[in-house]
Amino acid sequence: MTDSKVAIVTGAAGGLGHATTIALLENGYRVGGFDVNHATLGPVAEEHPDSLSLELVDVTSAESIEAGVARVTERFGTPTTLVNIAGTNRIAPLTETTEEIWDLLIDLNLKGTFLCCRAVVPRMREAGQGRIVNLTSNMGLRPEAQQVGYASSKAGVVGLTRALALELAPDHIAVNAVAPVMTLTERVAGLPQWWKDLQLSKIPFGRYGTVEDTVNTVLFLLSEGGSFYTGQVLSPNGGDNMP
Ligand SMILES: NC(=O)c1ccc[n+]([C@@H]2O[C@H](COP(=O)([O-])OP(=O)(O)OC[C@H]3O[C@@H](n4cnc5c(N)ncnc54)[C@H](O)[C@@H]3O)[C@@H](O)[C@H]2O)c1
Repeated sequence: MTDSKVAIVTGAAGGLGHATTIALLENGYRVGGFDVNHATLGPVAEEHPDSLSLELVDVTSAESIEAGVARVTERFGTPTTLVNIAGTNRIAPLTETTEEIWDLLIDLNLKGTFLCCRAVVPRMREAGQGRIVNLTSNMGLRPEAQQVGYASSKAGVVGLTRALALELAPDHIAVNAVAPVMTLTERVAGLPQWWKDLQLSKIPFGRYGTVEDTVNTVLFLLSEGGSFYTGQVLSPNGGDNMP
């Protein structure tokens, strides 16, 4: 792990966010967990009263993010780790992709990532270090039919990651992305069976990703061993998609 031990995790109460938050706490981080609903994190906060701060933050709102970052900074100190996980998906062919669906996916998945980076980076710069990990998706690299909105948003996260990595390298701030293959979090487990079967059929290892596959990749990027990585997209995908 880096010297810095204050992290912000967005989507902290969701499947991948919850597991990432716990992993960071177990690795000695103090964590500001951003989410619009913290229901699943209540017991974790009780176990870690001095190191987990549950922040009601809507990552589509710059104002909400800034207030959350300020509260975490005041309580724990400067956040020099940011893990952008908040995001969602919709399955819809182009003509059924309403503007509402498009706006939801772009605002939450892409703009939310941008806004959180923009809020935290000035503090990382002052601290002289930082690590940012953005959750994109294998779907942002190897798109699927009926994923116009999601694939666009997650390909956007890849572009954002690479551009920001170049911009922030002189400030010793690393920016990388993790692109998991389908992972059966509660949300994804509820998707139609035909969709899950289709994704599984494309994974040479013959299994879905696990939450641990993603969390371990995030932890690697935050570790000393990951310190020479920036602008990279690491994809735990069982062989689906070989760039
Ligand atoms: N599970 C997968 O198969 C998979 C694969 C590739 C990428 N991903 C990406 O990983 C991330 C997490 O996926 P997941 O399966 O854990 O989803 P999830 O739905 O379990 O978690 C998402 C979390 O984001 C929160 N959230 C929603 N809107 C928010 C907002 N406006 N502000 C703050 N928080 C908000 C939700 O409350 C939820 O807790 C997403 O970005 C997703 O695209 C997931």
